Amino acid sequence: MAANSFSAPAQAVKGVAKTLAHRRQAVVGFLFALIVILVLHTTVVFGPSWSTNDIVVLQSTSGEQNARTSSPPALLAPNNSIQVHDIDNGQKDGAAKNDGERRDQLGQTVKNDANDKMKEDLVGQELDGDVKHGAPGKPICDLSDPRYDICEITGDARAMGANRTVLYVPPADERGTDGPEWAIKDQSRKNLGDIKEVNVKTLSAAQSLVAPECTSRHAVPAVVFAMNGIIGNPWHDLSDVLIPLFITTRAYDGEVQFLVTELQPWFVDKYRLVLTNLSRYDIIDFNKDAGVRCYPHIIVGLRSHGDLDIDPARTPRNYTLLDFRLYIRDVFSLPPEGQGIPYKEANKKNAASNDNGTVTENPKPRLLLINRGESRKFVNLPEVSAAVQAAGFELLVMEPSRDMGMEEFARAVDSCDVLMGVHGAALTNFFFLRTNAVLLQVVGLGLEREALHYYGNQAKAVMVQHIQYFISAEESTLYEKYGKDHPAVSDPDSVHKQGWQGAKRYFWAEQDIRLNITRFAPTLHQLIRTLRE
Ligand SMILES: *[C@@H]1O[C@H](CO)[C@@H](O)[C@H](O)[C@H]1NC(C)=O
Ligand SMILES: *[C@@H]1O[C@H](CO)[C@@H](O)[C@H](O)[C@H]1NC(C)=O
Ligand SMILES: *[C@@H]1O[C@H](CO)[C@@H](O)[C@H](O)[C@H]1NC(C)=O
Ligand SMILES: *[C@@H]1O[C@H](CO)[C@@H](O)[C@H](O)[C@H]1NC(C)=O
Ligand SMILES: *[C@@H]1O[C@H](CO)[C@@H](O)[C@H](O)[C@H]1NC(C)=O
Ligand SMILES: *[C@@H]1O[C@H](CO)[C@@H](O)[C@H](O)[C@H]1NC(C)=O
Repeated sequence: MAANSFSAPAQAVKGVAKTLAHRRQAVVGFLFALIVILVLHTTVVFGPSWSTNDIVVLQSTSGEQNARTSSPPALLAPNNSIQVHDIDNGQKDGAAKNDGERRDQLGQTVKNDANDKMKEDLVGQELDGDVKHGAPGKPICDLSDPRYDICEITGDARAMGANRTVLYVPPADERGTDGPEWAIKDQSRKNLGDIKEVNVKTLSAAQSLVAPECTSRHAVPAVVFAMNGIIGNPWHDLSDVLIPLFITTRAYDGEVQFLVTELQPWFVDKYRLVLTNLSRYDIIDFNKDAGVRCYPHIIVGLRSHGDLDIDPARTPRNYTLLDFRLYIRDVFSLPPEGQGIPYKEANKKNAASNDNGTVTENPKPRLLLINRGESRKFVNLPEVSAAVQAAGFELLVMEPSRDMGMEEFARAVDSCDVLMGVHGAALTNFFFLRTNAVLLQVVGLGLEREALHYYGNQAKAVMVQHIQYFISAEESTLYEKYGKDHPAVSDPDSVHKQGWQGAKRYFWAEQDIRLNITRFAPTLHQLIRTLRE
């Protein structure tokens, strides 16, 4: 296998480059990729998407009384509130937002992602979910991370959805003459326009005396977070919400309640298995909650360590991104770690049956080809499909649809040895692959760095092999459209240097792929050899 060559010009011929480089080598920046991912990938989903209008959150209508499975009753306070989940009135799905709005937000997102120099300061604070952040004299909120703000109260914490406020009532001997106040965005992107602020306040001595009475008391911690922002494609669903939620709450082993601002029914429905595992309590539609909910511990906001990433040094229990993949697989009831890739397992079985005289056909490795519906699609899909089969693969082609259940989709990905597609959010499904399976990324012109930064490095980190096919200029429809001398074709870097508008237009929006089968075939053959090893 050739060494990774993403820094070479796109036109340079590199049939296959198995990326061996360490993930952190990825060039930071090129954040406009994110913008484009947002704007352009909304239809290619991590499994299915918002299909129903009338989803009732987790169905149940009561609070902790309906604790799922093995919730220890001892943890529950005697008088829990009745929480009615009525979210059937016209909450729009994430995809309904217009692109212009998202684009604006993205301008801010770029800033947001820019650096992680504050990281060191935070390390100590995140090592343990039980650290007492609301201790007297200590600030409750930490605004120092470039990606997110977070507040943490330990003690008498009261959450009031009606006015988006979380209060800390200090013990009598620790009350001051006034109390500090914060307003933070309760998700992993603190600069995102449409994430509204939640107020967090330590009550003064005088205010404490007239603090709003609890209408329900709970024995487990609560986390307040926003379910809007730029979710709507699998990359953002995971990077912005699910991974941050995992980082922030996994260590509670389900003993935590989610108070969700801007709750999106489609998101709850789509990721139900994950959400109900992270919290065994009902999800509260916080915007519609009229009570004063009292908890011994409340976190407002979600921690995030990078683009689709986890920094184990900053998580309780040292969770890694690999832990997250194994966790997700577990939650979707996919085969446990230790199973080989499907092709290897099939070969084993085949060998066994040949031993007892049953003659069976040799198994073929399975390749799941994701075809994007709109931009960056394969314009010669039939030829590509034929080439994949001719190389000896069993082929599955999927255009992820909104009607397909997540579990079904996860099983389909798990059953394959290779997930192939053009750079785009659907590749996020590599989280459902088995260890040592392959993500085969077809890298269009101008997308070399993004291929690694948003998918390739993460795939490697979770023990999925990452193979890149860098197209030649002739394989991009930009070549047909603009000719070989146009800068988007002859010098993609020069387009990047002029800003994301141009990059977005050419590389993400206008570019389709016409794979040169002759040129691509060696990649497939190499891939088969790799799988047989
Ligand atoms: C917020 O709402 C609660 C309960 O609905 C109320 O008791 C409290 O006074 C309100 N606080 C503010 C600042 O409006
Ligand atoms: C909750 O229970 C406690 C103790 O049983 C009681 O003092 C309090 O008034 C109750 N609160 C509500 C809102 O019923
Ligand atoms: C969450 O999933 C893990 C792994 O599958 C399981 O051990 C645990 O019991 C689940 N927790 C809840 C609350 O469902
Ligand atoms: C996390 O890793 C650090 C070093 O990488 C180690 O010192 C620490 O004990 C680990 N913590 C846990 C909970 O495993
Ligand atoms: C031979 O082995 C295969 C795989 O283990 C098994 O499914 C099959 O039933 C066996 N056939 C006989 C005749 O023992
Ligand atoms: C396809 O690739 C082959 C091998 O690299 C090359 O010889 C041929 O000219 C290419 N065809 C087109 C249409 O670019």
